[in-house]
Amino acid sequence: MIGRGIRHLSNMARLNDKVAIVTASTDGIGFAIAKRLAQEGAKVVVSSRNQKNVDEALSKLAKDGLSDRVVGTVCHVGKAEDRKRIFDEAVKLGGLDILISNAAVNPTIGPILECSEQVWDKIFEINVKAAFLLAKDAVPLFQKRGGGKIIFISSVGGHRPFPLLGPYSVSKTALLGLTKAIAGDVATDNITVNCIAPGVIETKFSNAITTEGPIREESLSLIPMKRFGKPDEVASVAAFLASSDANYITGETILVTGGMHARL
Ligand SMILES: NC(=O)c1ccc[n+]([C@@H]2O[C@H](COP(=O)([O-])OP(=O)(O)OC[C@H]3O[C@@H](n4cnc5c(N)ncnc54)[C@H](OP(=O)(O)O)[C@@H]3O)[C@@H](O)[C@H]2O)c1
Repeated sequence: MIGRGIRHLSNMARLNDKVAIVTASTDGIGFAIAKRLAQEGAKVVVSSRNQKNVDEALSKLAKDGLSDRVVGTVCHVGKAEDRKRIFDEAVKLGGLDILISNAAVNPTIGPILECSEQVWDKIFEINVKAAFLLAKDAVPLFQKRGGGKIIFISSVGGHRPFPLLGPYSVSKTALLGLTKAIAGDVATDNITVNCIAPGVIETKFSNAITTEGPIREESLSLIPMKRFGKPDEVASVAAFLASSDANYITGETILVTGGMHARL
């Protein structure tokens, strides 16, 4: 069993010698991405708002034999001092090659025109502004290493707004534009900027959709594969985009939706 695990890791070592930051990586999609990048050889800075969650994530990764490839720190992406701390952690590991901007909030459910200015600002501060600021601080570190990869985590809602998640969906549409805007500016620096738009993936975030009931059935009816996605099925796409296999792809968004129809 152990021998099989080691073979599995060495076969996939596309990210040896790379250093990655994954925001919001103590659970769900971010955790799966952090784990997959580490399995592929990267050193990964794991983070979220809560130290206990960071510690638990690190101990789970240690159980998977990845303790020498992961470090953890608290980072609420809306706080400048926390963002600085994750970059400092990456520099301690040698520099930065990969930024996965995965954190998002959705504090409201309801018609978009009933969203308060305060809630709108909160959503855009975390989902868009923090993603922009992280990318802005990552680029000089990438330049020191001769290149880098940025991957934003958007949502199928960015292409096709969810009816009761309007502000969240619009913030995810903004990431599609941010991807293209930054990609164009850094293309000659050997830095690629891409985006993943997951469909409905089974995590705490999507609990209200994926647990039994009419919303679950209605959601499944929109998915040709008739099942929700797994965090690992997003992580594998992130690992591809973070690897040299995707060197000639930039400014793109990959939908990971089980075939849900979605276009802007
Ligand atoms: N699940 C889906 O169906 C789905 C679909 C499309 C897109 N997405 C996107 O995928 C991303 C991850 O979602 P998920 O489903 O994996 O969520 P999740 O399972 O609920 O995990 C959320 C993670 O984010 C951390 N977090 C929350 N707010 C944060 C903040 N301000 N700063 C830093 N970390 C923060 C949480 O840890 P702490 O509580 O310790 O901070 C936790 O590690 C989000 O961008 C989401 O919009 C998800």
